[in-house]
Amino acid sequence: MLLVLRYLITMKIDPWSSTTYQDYSRLRDEFGIEDFSDESWKNLPHPHKLLRRGVIFGHRGFQLIQDSVTKKKPWAILTGLMPSGKMHLGHKMVIDEVIYYQSIGADINIAVADIEAFATRGYTLEQTKDFALNEYIPSYIALGLKPEKCRIYFQSKNEDVKDLAYILGKKINWSQMQATYGFDGSCNMAHVFSPLIQTGDILHVQLEKYGGNRPTLVPVGVDQDPHIRLSRDVAQAHRLYNVIVTKDNKIGVFVKIDENVSKLLDNAEKILNSLSFNKLKRITDYKAIYIEDAVEEDIQKIDEKLARTETKLGGYGFFQPSATFHRFITGLTGEKMSSSKPESAIFLTDSPKDATKKIMTSKTGGAVTLEEQKKYGGKPDECVVYELFLYHLIEDDKELQDIYTSCKKGEKMCGQCKKYASELIEKLLTDIQEKRKNATGKIKQYLS
Ligand code: TRP
Ligand code: SF4
Repeated sequence: MLLVLRYLITMKIDPWSSTTYQDYSRLRDEFGIEDFSDESWKNLPHPHKLLRRGVIFGHRGFQLIQDSVTKKKPWAILTGLMPSGKMHLGHKMVIDEVIYYQSIGADINIAVADIEAFATRGYTLEQTKDFALNEYIPSYIALGLKPEKCRIYFQSKNEDVKDLAYILGKKINWSQMQATYGFDGSCNMAHVFSPLIQTGDILHVQLEKYGGNRPTLVPVGVDQDPHIRLSRDVAQAHRLYNVIVTKDNKIGVFVKIDENVSKLLDNAEKILNSLSFNKLKRITDYKAIYIEDAVEEDIQKIDEKLARTETKLGGYGFFQPSATFHRFITGLTGEKMSSSKPESAIFLTDSPKDATKKIMTSKTGGAVTLEEQKKYGGKPDECVVYELFLYHLIEDDKELQDIYTSCKKGEKMCGQCKKYASELIEKLLTDIQEKRKNATGKIKQYLS
C-alpha cells in the first residue's frame, strides 16, 4: 500500500541512528525477517488495523504466539520505551499494539529503558524518570492500557534484569557484538552493555518470578531487529537440549552441555515416553537420543516439553522470543517523524490548533495544480495525510479504501482531506488529553 522507495541500506541495522528504513522487502530478505503477507495473524480475534493494513510487515517466530492464542495458553508481551523527549504518533503505534494484545489475553511487561537512554542518549536517570512518569506512562493510560496483568518497570531498578544481562553475556563474544552493532574501539562500555540489558528485559519475563517459561512477543520498529536477533540467539544458546533433524534425516534430542549428561538423557527419555514416543535409541557418547517414531512436525511439541523441565535441571528453558516489526510513520514534512524536529511530529500533548497547523502545511501526494489533480488523480501512497488516516485516524477499512480510490481517481482534493484529518486529530488529541488528566493518579497501579 505504501510506496517503497528504492533505498540503499548498509548491511547493518543500527538501532541508535536516525535512519528511516523504507525498503522493507529488502530488509526482510537480507535479515531473514519473516513475511507477514501470508496473513499468519488472521486467526487472531479481531486483528488490529496495523496488522490488517500491513503496517506490521514482518515477524520472527510469530507461529508460537498464534499457537498460544489459539490454544489459550499463557503468553507475554514485553516491550520497551526510550524515555527521551515527548511522545508523538510514531511512539503511539507500539502502545496501540500492546493494548490490542492485552485485549486478547497477553500479560503485559513494559521496560522503561532508562539505562539505555543514559548510555546512548546522554540523559541522567533522573531526567528519564521524569519523562517516563510525566510524559509516556500517562499517555499509555490515556490510550487505554489496563492495570490488570500489566507491569511497567525501570531497567535501572530491576535487579533480575541487570543480573540476567550480566549472566547471559557469558555466551556472547565481542566479535558477535561488533558484527551485530558495528561497535569499535571508541564505543563506551555502558553503550556496549545496553543491548545486553535489553536482552535481560526480553528474557527476564520467563523467569519463575515473572510467570515462568512462555512464548513472549516483542512488538517493535524494525530498527530494533539486532536486539531481537541477539535475544533469540542468547535464548537458544542457554538451552540444555536441542531437538533437530540430523543430516541423515533422523530426529534427535541432543544434550548441549557436558555436565550431568546421563541425568539429562534420563530426563529426556522420560519426557519422550510421556509423549508416547517409544522407539528411542540412546547413544550416550553422542549425548543423543534418536526418536525413530517421530516426524518433523513433532519437534516443536518435544522441544516445548523439554524446555519446561530445564529450570529444574539448572537451565533457563527459554522459549525463543517472537517479534513483530512495524514500518515507521513518515513525518509531516516528508522526513522521519522525530521529537527533535517538532514540525515533523504530532505530539500527543500538542494542542489541536498546533496539530491542525502542522497538518495544513504537510506534504501530501497531491498534484501541483487542482486541474492536474482532477485529471490525473493524487498519490495516496506518497501522502502523509493518508498515512495519518491509515495508521491512526480511521478505524473502518472500507472508509479508508474509499479515500484511497477517490484520491487516485482525482475525485478528492487535498484541502478536503486535510480538513477531515484535522477534525479527526482534534477528536483524538482532546480525548487523550482529557484522559491524561486523571492518569497521573493511577500510575502507581502499573509500576512494579
Ligand atoms: N531500545 C528500545 C528503543 O530504542 C527500547 C527498549 C528497551 C526495548 N528495552 C526493550 C524495546 C525491550 C523492546 C524490548 O526504543
Ligand atoms: Fe493525500 Fe487526500 Fe491529497 Fe490524496 S487527496 S494526496 S489522500 S491529501
